[in-house]
Amino acid sequence: MSTRSWALLVRPSANRVYAASGPQLLEAEVAVLDATVLDGRLRDIGIRDLGGVPYLTFTSDGDLDAHAIAHLSTLSGIYALFEREGEHLRPVELAALQLFDEDLLTIQKYVGKTNELFTRLLLNVTLWASHVGADLVAGAARERPIRVLDPMCGRGSSLHQALVYGCDADGLDVDGKDFDAHEAFLKTWLRRKRLKHTAEVIPIRRDGERLGRRLEVAVARDKDAWKAKDVRRLGFVHADTTRAAEFFRPGTFDALVADAPYGVQHGARAGGRLERSPLSLLEQALPGWVSLLRPGAGLGLSWNIYVAPRDEVVRLLASCGLEALDDGPWRGFAHRVDASIERDVLVARVPAG
Ligand SMILES: C[S@@+](CC[C@H](N)C(=O)[O-])C[C@H]1O[C@@H](n2cnc3c(N)ncnc32)[C@H](O)[C@@H]1O
Repeated sequence: MSTRSWALLVRPSANRVYAASGPQLLEAEVAVLDATVLDGRLRDIGIRDLGGVPYLTFTSDGDLDAHAIAHLSTLSGIYALFEREGEHLRPVELAALQLFDEDLLTIQKYVGKTNELFTRLLLNVTLWASHVGADLVAGAARERPIRVLDPMCGRGSSLHQALVYGCDADGLDVDGKDFDAHEAFLKTWLRRKRLKHTAEVIPIRRDGERLGRRLEVAVARDKDAWKAKDVRRLGFVHADTTRAAEFFRPGTFDALVADAPYGVQHGARAGGRLERSPLSLLEQALPGWVSLLRPGAGLGLSWNIYVAPRDEVVRLLASCGLEALDDGPWRGFAHRVDASIERDVLVARVPAG
């Protein structure tokens, strides 16, 4: 089998978002994709200058099939893919995984938003690590939509990325202003896009006690899909994340992602107190979160390592029976956000059972 050579151009916006770390983060993302759903078929992954521009280059034994191209197309940092033929670059058609318009992620601007590229990176690596990773690009061939939970979802960045991918998405946040702003934004977006949908807010009560409120959205890509009941669901519960297990059926989510409070703009609300470190909140919330996951599910966290060291987060996940992925490319995601935030990513798996 002949060796083929490939070059990936980094999305220009990655340079703005991650300053100098764009290519390194893409390198770690490609290496994780290779170690999970691509079964190690890529070799010589590295950053190389071509014509004065940094590219992520790699080789493969033989051609890349449609499945591999579809997965490479989902990379958060990808702008274009080329096959290298001597001095020449031959463009390879990408296959975007996109059920709904991507402006669902870009229109909202607010303090504390997790940027779109990073949101996609965290969701990607978590899904690839999970039992549904290889299936992500299966589209209509999939038996049921993949279910994603963000138990600290802010104004819904990860829920929106999951929906764009064609997943069902649920979120929770304790901040009522985030809940209201998200509801107003999403309802307007659904109307402007003229998508067939329902969207309503329902109070959640148990034994006379008001536990919170829930936004429930069902949406279809077009009229035919709506008629065929081929809909996707987005849910958002306004409540404290330590009560997550009270709002969803156990063992039903394929992936959980959360960008934890950085201790700068947002603190972690643990037991009514606002704390800089998210560790005690994680300790209280993790057992409930884990109970909602299926065997083989992925759990991906990002947080500010200035307020919580990585080893502590690894220890917490392990104490909840999770298998932390903490070697090789999985350790390649730490990057500077600003002077007070150095963000890292940790992914873990629920044992397959
Ligand atoms: C870094 S922000 C997440 C931003 C989100 N990814 C977005 O793009 O909108 C962390 C979120 O954790 C939420 N949070 C903090 N303590 C919480 C708690 N006890 N329960 C639920 N959410 C909490 C904050 O309200 C904040 O929205």
